[in-house]
Amino acid sequence: MQQLAYDMLRATEMAALAAWPLIGCGDKNQIDGAAVTAMRQSLNQAPMRGRIIIGEGEIDHAPMLFIDEELGLGVGPEVDIAVDPIEGTRMVSVGQHNALSVLACAPRGCLFHAPDMYMRKLVVRPEAKGAIDLTRSLEDNLRSVAAALNKPLQQLQVVILDKPRHQADIRQLNNLGVKVSILPDGDVAGSIMLCQTNSELDVMYTIGGAPEGVLSACAVKIMGGDMQGMLIDSLDAKGWSDLNQQTAQQERQRCQHMGVEVNHVYTLNQMVHTDEILFSATGVTKGDLTDGVRKIESKLQTQSLFLNGIDKTQRLINTLHER
Ligand code: FBP
Repeated sequence: MQQLAYDMLRATEMAALAAWPLIGCGDKNQIDGAAVTAMRQSLNQAPMRGRIIIGEGEIDHAPMLFIDEELGLGVGPEVDIAVDPIEGTRMVSVGQHNALSVLACAPRGCLFHAPDMYMRKLVVRPEAKGAIDLTRSLEDNLRSVAAALNKPLQQLQVVILDKPRHQADIRQLNNLGVKVSILPDGDVAGSIMLCQTNSELDVMYTIGGAPEGVLSACAVKIMGGDMQGMLIDSLDAKGWSDLNQQTAQQERQRCQHMGVEVNHVYTLNQMVHTDEILFSATGVTKGDLTDGVRKIESKLQTQSLFLNGIDKTQRLINTLHER
């Protein structure tokens, strides 16, 4: 595993570099397509027997690295890879901050294998590890986290995605008097930010993509935080429509086929049952975790957050690329 660290870093760097010229182009599919192609090419040069365990593309029919797609040179360790070549495609398309290219890998069989659908997620910083339970209400969880952090509920900093499905949750958070931090997109960055040393954020509650959930779980596990996730179908996540009903039926069938349950709480260890994890996130646009791709004279500079669960290190890596 450890010997794949450079290949994993390089794959997110290549995807970020491929997306960079398209920042602000307004075409999400073109951005996803460029990043996916670059990531696939890069991963195919790695000395591994790799397999995509969870990836994106099915929900929004975007270009994708297919779940179960095999990658690598066909020699070396057998690994499972979770990918999101662009986490925040909309943000890249309109030139907003905080878009990343992300992947994580672990030995075969150690990562949650699920379809690309929605996931309800609850993430807490390391100091509140053990204080969450997704079978209980949001309010109960926030009170439990506040107690674990030894602070009044009103001082709790809660992160949530700015999605129509969260309007009622945001009203509830406001009524409880907690401090709310609303992210337009990008819950992987949210999960990482709240696990960073000296973070001012305490907890994230949100419904987002399952691939982002598994990627977050990998980062959270390495950083010592805690997380629970629950797969939910499109009907539950987005409300009633003919399309959502049809999609929900397909999602439930895929879950059955893959041996995972909808509306069931999965703990962090059930989603990632190893410490042998490599996680790489390269900034596409400038963000809270990393810089975006930058032109420096004739070269391009990338900045990546690289988390290594094997030697328990967190690195911020600048790379200059000849073009
Ligand atoms: P992508 O750009 O990879 O689609 O993800 C952005 C994101 O905000 C994720 O962080 C989040 O999990 C997901 O979208 C939520 O999905 P939706 O945009 O359908 O609400």
